[in-house]
Amino acid sequence: MNANLPNKIGFGRISRRRFLRRSPPFLAVFTFAACSQTAPKSSPHLYSDAHLGTSPKSLSPTPTCGDSGLSTPAQTPGPFYSANSPQRQSLLEADTAGSRLIVTGQVLTTDCVPLANSLIDVWQTDAQGRYDNTGNKLRGHQFTDVKGRYWLETIVPGLYPGRTRHLHIKVQAPNRPVLTTQLYLPEEPLNESDFLFQPELIMAIQDTADGKQARFDFVL
Ligand SMILES: [Fe+2]
Repeated sequence: MNANLPNKIGFGRISRRRFLRRSPPFLAVFTFAACSQTAPKSSPHLYSDAHLGTSPKSLSPTPTCGDSGLSTPAQTPGPFYSANSPQRQSLLEADTAGSRLIVTGQVLTTDCVPLANSLIDVWQTDAQGRYDNTGNKLRGHQFTDVKGRYWLETIVPGLYPGRTRHLHIKVQAPNRPVLTTQLYLPEEPLNESDFLFQPELIMAIQDTADGKQARFDFVL
């Protein structure tokens, strides 16, 4: 399943304090959903000044940078973030079930300058709406390449009480604060009733022969 993945190289370390310093505070209102699960423990992430040197799959640049000077909106991380996710571009494992979802895009400044070596950290539920809070299933982080590009292979997240389908993501360019946000799918029946949903965070999605191909650019 990983035959199309770009190559990976090693990275140095980033301090957990630096990574988490600018994360938005947890919103108490979020605890109503699926809070019977235990919040995972945290540990340091990896980071580097080295670049990936990879060539993510074909991108169709549709950046919103430069249009308004606006950056990607922040959203709550919710209670299920874990800072010790593995470095990987595919979250799929041998027992991962669900509809395959490829997400690509760039990390850019508001002036459309690509931000290389940006951390992209993703966590989401499985197809049944469950977070893995004891392991790292459907959790992973990677770094953008020299053109600020990322490539993520995962599945369409499931539903859990009170929420529409969503991916959780933290994005941090070198020497910049962390953006914590969530991404949504278009035309989801529960989008309109979801208390966190924002149309600005909808991914552009196309159906493909083996799943869905999504695009989202982060503007910092
Ligand atoms: Fe969530």
